[in-house]
Amino acid sequence: MLKVILIASGKGGTGKTSLTASAGAALAQLGRKVLVMDGDCGLRNLDLVLGMSDAAVFSFADAARDTVPLTRAAAAHPVIAGLHLLTAPAEPPTLTNAQMEHLSRSADEAGFDYLLIDGPAGLPEELSLYAHIATQGIVVTMPDPASIRGAERVARRMEQSCIMRIRLVVNRVRPRLIRHGLAANIDDVMDAAGLPLLGLVPEDEDVIACAGSGKSVVQVKKTGAAQAYRNIARRLEGERLPLMKF
Ligand SMILES: Nc1ncnc2c1ncn2[C@@H]1O[C@H](COP(=O)(O)OP(=O)(O)O)[C@@H](O)[C@H]1O
Ligand SMILES: [Mg+2]
Repeated sequence: MLKVILIASGKGGTGKTSLTASAGAALAQLGRKVLVMDGDCGLRNLDLVLGMSDAAVFSFADAARDTVPLTRAAAAHPVIAGLHLLTAPAEPPTLTNAQMEHLSRSADEAGFDYLLIDGPAGLPEELSLYAHIATQGIVVTMPDPASIRGAERVARRMEQSCIMRIRLVVNRVRPRLIRHGLAANIDDVMDAAGLPLLGLVPEDEDVIACAGSGKSVVQVKKTGAAQAYRNIARRLEGERLPLMKF
């Protein structure tokens, strides 16, 4: 049964695309068939982060409208078996809920276990299209007040869209700042966002270096953010894992 997970945030640049790419890669490494979809139409970059900018010709809008079959629109990752990409159209498309349902049904029929939607920042119109088919939500925030406030707003919007299971990922965690009282601690972030925690991802330069070279950090590293993304993938699979110690 396909799980459709919408990854969103209030503020931009919180780490949605990095999470989509790396959690998708980690789920594929666990043997799952994963479709990652770029839902950030104006600012699409999931293809770049995955090193697949030349791979995809058709967008999710083509697959939703049934202009091409989903199996043709989805491009297979050149290295990671089981990972597939669906890119965004250049402009936010006008699609109906029924067309989005067609997209998720096609992904289910094609044998995908996961459809991870790399959402746009904030609350643009297309978010409700994605929320319509999402069975779960992940809100990504950094531990600063502006991101946390944005996370809270997006969380409430997802709840209104009747997404049953919404969890929080706190990204770019810097334990030293938390220890010195210079950043919100994780309990405070969870309280403010009003969501249970799916995972903590540490600040890690390798995330930036890997994105620049079109590789996922989980392909090249075992520790730091790579381990955090792997743990998140295992929690999505239903495993109970303790939070990473910093
Ligand atoms: N845990 C992290 N440590 C260091 N840099 C990160 C981390 N997560 C994301 N980044 C960097 O932050 C920037 C924004 O991340 P991105 O995933 O594109 O955010 P979004 O999709 O929410 O706009 C990118 O340059 C990315 O490499
Ligand atoms: Mg992004």
